[in-house]
Amino acid sequence: MSQPERASLDGLDVRGRRVFLRVDFNVPLLEGGGIRDDARMRASLPTLRELLAAGAAVIVATHLGRPMGRRVPELSTKPLADHLSELLGSPVQWVSDCVGPEVEKDASRLGPGEVLMLENLRFHPEEEANDPEFAGRLAQLADLYVSDAFGSAHRAHASTEGAARRLPAYPGRLMARELEQLGNVLGDPARPMVAIMGGSKLSSKLGVIDHLLPRVDALLLGGAMAATFLRAHGLQVGRSLVEQDFLEEALQIMERARTAGIRLELPVDVVVAPGLNASVAEVRTCGADEVGPDEMILDLGPKTVASWAELVASAGTVV
Ligand code: 3PG
Repeated sequence: MSQPERASLDGLDVRGRRVFLRVDFNVPLLEGGGIRDDARMRASLPTLRELLAAGAAVIVATHLGRPMGRRVPELSTKPLADHLSELLGSPVQWVSDCVGPEVEKDASRLGPGEVLMLENLRFHPEEEANDPEFAGRLAQLADLYVSDAFGSAHRAHASTEGAARRLPAYPGRLMARELEQLGNVLGDPARPMVAIMGGSKLSSKLGVIDHLLPRVDALLLGGAMAATFLRAHGLQVGRSLVEQDFLEEALQIMERARTAGIRLELPVDVVVAPGLNASVAEVRTCGADEVGPDEMILDLGPKTVASWAELVASAGTVV
């Protein structure tokens, strides 16, 4: 299918067309139910309002939390649909699945200016597996695909990657703005440029690190991923998640940073506990070289936080 070189909503005629709008409404929730912070929802309102005003029928899809392919009632998107309706000041329909006959029926009946929100995409294991058939079922709900899910764009899932390949696809206003800003920042950053990375797996971040390393003045590595670097550095990290197969890569990254004069920072102190569900009494702070065999690194320690805060405060650009 032919698409403009730089896909954009500018000038796109969406009147009477059904748009699959992938958003990232993975909002923090309150214990016992309710939305703790709706910033991610508000961030996509301009795209949604624009599409509706232009006469599109919009099918809104998101994941929420990590239900691991199972139906978890606490992670239903129904409260999000209700809240979205309040934010828009107009009704938002909701359907209790994201694929299947009922969804197809509701989507096909959706009129211009109407919104249908789907149930949590991740209630189906096929979403995270980027299952082609599942992606096809999502795509067949609409005529066009628009993504505002910048926060999920690094995941090749059925709704973020698979469905986007099956329809004429466009970035939403939030996505376009984020990409533009990222392009500016990476192309001509104010110095010094400091990048902060976290997440659990080095293996899934190698490409990002490759891309960032030549551009930054300092790279601060936190999250669970730091344990793989600390281990590669020869430290004992107890029960922390270590990707044994990527110790060599971690060493190479540290070496590349050293020879290029880039400051690669690992935690010097950490918060540890026997596990994620440990009691408060079992949590302690220690040097990164003092983690016990039955402990797991769960956070940065205060010395690391203070020194990284200084680096961030004196940065010209923070990514
Ligand atoms: C996020 O909150 O970082 C995004 O929504 C992606 O969520 P995920 O890490 O569970 O894929």
